[in-house]
Amino acid sequence: MSRITKSWTLLPNSAIINKCSLINVNMWSKQALQELAREKFRDYKLIVVSNREPYIHQYQGGRIECLQPASGMATALDPLMRACGGVWVAHGSGDADRHAPGAMGRTPVPPEAPLYMLRRVWLSKELENGYYYGLANGGLWPLCHVAFRRPVFHREHWEAYRRVNEIFAQAVLEEAGDDPAFVFIQDYHLGLLPRLLKNGNPSLVVAQFWHIPWPNRETFRAFPWKEDFLDGLLGNDLLGFHLRYHCQNFLDTVDRAIEARVDQERYEVTLRGKVTAVRPFPISIDFAEHASTAAGAAVDNEMEHWRRALDLGQMRIGLGIDRIDYTKGIPERLRSLDLFLERCPEHRGRLVFVQIGVPSRLRVAEYKRLGEEIEALVSEINTKWSSGAWRPILFLKTHLGPAQMMALHRLADFCMVSSLHDGMNLVAKEYVASRFDENGMLILSEFTGAARELTDAILVNPFDLDTCADAIRRALELPPEERRRRMRRMRAVVADNNVYRWAAKILAALARIEAPQPRPPRMDAAARQNGGQLCAGVATSARPACT
Ligand code: G6P
Repeated sequence: MSRITKSWTLLPNSAIINKCSLINVNMWSKQALQELAREKFRDYKLIVVSNREPYIHQYQGGRIECLQPASGMATALDPLMRACGGVWVAHGSGDADRHAPGAMGRTPVPPEAPLYMLRRVWLSKELENGYYYGLANGGLWPLCHVAFRRPVFHREHWEAYRRVNEIFAQAVLEEAGDDPAFVFIQDYHLGLLPRLLKNGNPSLVVAQFWHIPWPNRETFRAFPWKEDFLDGLLGNDLLGFHLRYHCQNFLDTVDRAIEARVDQERYEVTLRGKVTAVRPFPISIDFAEHASTAAGAAVDNEMEHWRRALDLGQMRIGLGIDRIDYTKGIPERLRSLDLFLERCPEHRGRLVFVQIGVPSRLRVAEYKRLGEEIEALVSEINTKWSSGAWRPILFLKTHLGPAQMMALHRLADFCMVSSLHDGMNLVAKEYVASRFDENGMLILSEFTGAARELTDAILVNPFDLDTCADAIRRALELPPEERRRRMRRMRAVVADNNVYRWAAKILAALARIEAPQPRPPRMDAAARQNGGQLCAGVATSARPACT
């Protein structure tokens, strides 16, 4: 066994001047991450794997357009891939994906200035139904979130899940070939993949990040195929969660469910002689990039556009932006708004709450029902309180581009994130990053991972409508100086714990792990044209440079 490296300390890059109000803050940057990758993983190819693709090609009025999906996971990983280069393997779910530029299911992205390769995996409707809608989102999603929805398990969904994980494994093994590669798997759709990869090529370095909570061991007991699933996950060299608490839940689950050695001191599991390190890595966003885009002219224009389109006048504005998902607590939020209007007549006619709902997972019955419930609630509350042209809630069922979203952030007096349970929640961090004016206030569920870092938000229990109604009043009435102080501190936290720090910590943890010996290269390996080594800009291949 050879070590990839001995060890090094996580030193931040030289001071970066953030033109948007955080001056001389030492923070991890794209460049610092590139240097780290170059120093320690020069010869490794980076392969990211997820269900959701970072770019979706869709037909729109006969033309192909390319969208970025509403996914915290994709939002976080895209800057990392832009910085390091490599291949991202994901399910091709867009109706125009097969006709995107490129060949053999491989398309260079981002489309306007490619920096890495997207390799699409094709699935039949039947497999997608069983694996994605069935096991992943009808079973594992409710199992892992405490939102009091019953998980549904069917054997045929599990079979589809297994089969799809095998299909992904085949694509990743092809991409890796015989070269040293670091495979970075995302989320609960691909729990069996690590073991399949290690079986197919023991020399791969395999890590996985679990973007949602891990439940306690009593809850996980209900999963009918838990032994196989845990065995799959323990193919990883490193398994990451947002919070130490989720790591602890995972270790307890393994301890209870299978014959493996769990080291509670070192946060490690040993199964059949193979060690998996389990570590917390709270995910984040590319703060600097986000903040500078939010301060740009395109966002100013979008603000004007929203003001006119929504006829906002002098209204104060509240904001919610979510996928339409029962874990996000949207009905609870609207009910607390209703209560607030009842208790605070002085705010009637003066506040508009803009709720953006991105349609999601509509083939799961629970999601369809939720969409209907929200529509009914909006109409009920609007009917109850409307007066003249004023309606308290504007519900827009749509998917927003970055500039439109940032414009709403900047317009909003407060943003409300009331998830019943959430691994992290990047909407909260995005809102804070957009507020370079240090104005606005965040109301944040204490059941999000983000609440551990953003302690200057107004923290609420989203199940407690009274407290949430009070929080809305507080957010609107907080003295400007206190609002600024809180926003400044939250921005400093997100600037510092940005997505590059997240990625750097993962690389650092991996570098401390005993990596398997690389396989000797085959004669034809050099001829294989693919996405290239970690940190393409410094490797000798002819891949697009990272900037
Ligand atoms: C969560 C998951 C992601 C997922 C996203 C959007 O954030 O952790 O893996 O991509 O939801 O859900 P979707 O099912 O549309 O990919």
